[in-house]
Amino acid sequence: MSSTATIDTSPPTNRGMRGALNRDAFRKSIPLLAVRVPAAQTTKFMKSDIVKSRVLDIPKVRTVIPDAQDSKSRLVLLRDKDEESLSPEIRSFIEKEALGFAPYNLELDYSYWTADEILQAVLPEHLCETSPTSFTITGHLAHINLKDEYLPYKYVIGQVILDKHKGLRTVVNKLDNIDTEFRFFKMEVIAGESDFVVEAHEANCKFTFDFSSVYWNSRLHTEHERLVSLFNPGDVIADVFAGVGPFAIPAAKKGCVVFGNDLNPSSAKYMQKNADDNQVNDRVRVSNVDGREYIRQIASEAWHRPFPPLGLPKSSKQRAREKRNQQQAKIDGPATAPDDLLPSRRRIDHFVMNLPGTALEFLDSFRGILAPFKALPDFKTIYDTMPMVHCHCFTKEIETADAITDIRRRAERALGHALPEETTFHFVRAVAPKKDMYCVSFALPRDLALGGK
Ligand SMILES: C[S@@+](CC[C@H](N)C(=O)[O-])C[C@H]1O[C@@H](n2cnc3c(N)ncnc32)[C@H](O)[C@@H]1O
Repeated sequence: MSSTATIDTSPPTNRGMRGALNRDAFRKSIPLLAVRVPAAQTTKFMKSDIVKSRVLDIPKVRTVIPDAQDSKSRLVLLRDKDEESLSPEIRSFIEKEALGFAPYNLELDYSYWTADEILQAVLPEHLCETSPTSFTITGHLAHINLKDEYLPYKYVIGQVILDKHKGLRTVVNKLDNIDTEFRFFKMEVIAGESDFVVEAHEANCKFTFDFSSVYWNSRLHTEHERLVSLFNPGDVIADVFAGVGPFAIPAAKKGCVVFGNDLNPSSAKYMQKNADDNQVNDRVRVSNVDGREYIRQIASEAWHRPFPPLGLPKSSKQRAREKRNQQQAKIDGPATAPDDLLPSRRRIDHFVMNLPGTALEFLDSFRGILAPFKALPDFKTIYDTMPMVHCHCFTKEIETADAITDIRRRAERALGHALPEETTFHFVRAVAPKKDMYCVSFALPRDLALGGK
């Protein structure tokens, strides 16, 4: 007896196809049996239990289709190939309720199969077990990390991924070597346009950047959100390794002011663009210097060249209301009080240091950062509490207690000072089997920041 199990809808195999993808090689004609039913009777016919069990049930294939020979009837596709495979009971039902049988060829082509199905039909069998279809999408660009054995098929793999995912315009293969300083991947285009400037969205902000020249990791979005949630509107943030701004821009949108720094000129350029595009450029000051130099001078900059007093960010509704009020004021004279402005702030509330490979090694730079203005009259009031430092790092220790011991030891060695009791160690994510990412957060020890031990 025939059943779906015998209808082979897998694509024709074209093993070893490399270079250009030949989509025409993926065509399949499947002979089926159809029942011709008067159009007006189709619903009733389909509802009968006896027919239901025999109707074709293949994903993405319509089972009732127009009848090319008669516009007043429809063809109902069955899962059987010929009349002989039908039970006498079904046959007599069809003879009574329908207009008869018709042969039908189900034509499947490249558009029918998923990327994975096509790749399973293209790759040599020994490469099929771990088909390389997992990739990450950033904007219009998909990035994949192909193992060496898949490289001969990279263009076919890239083209199939591109064809099968709406919105993609570029597929790149990450090359093994990551830029050690700026943490972006070297990559080659394996399908589509050679356009690396992507638009990504995180925390209701739009980020534009050149994926081939800056660091971006969408897996960090929870960590970005977590730290930003610790900031209060009006806080002053110093982001030492800011990238294109995934901490800086959402923090500014929340009402913080941000000194965002990155040594990579491309990151700094796109951080500025992202501040402009998200309409927070009055709250973000971008710099492009080495993190060590930045840590040493940024508290002085905040003290001597603070951001001007700024209001809290407004919703579009608030802005519209204000505009209406201003127009009304032109007629009636001023009626609304000026906005409450947050006072200008000369202190730094939070340092963010997300360069997990080496950030701990920069901690010695904090020594004496507040010394240049510690004798000024209002210093004690302004720095009544010390800035928080949030420093990301990796550890090979997998047990939490061991990880904390390891991170504490390295942080204290770099600082040349014990960490405060209230220090927290937040597990961010497992990066590799023996490599976890943490964020250690602590209030900068006052004596260290003032220049002593
Ligand atoms: C891991 S990325 C983090 C970027 C961003 N904060 C994020 O969370 O996605 C580290 C950033 O530090 C920058 N960087 C590397 N070395 C640096 C240095 N010595 N001084 C300042 N920035 C540096 C890199 O260009 C990169 O953008």
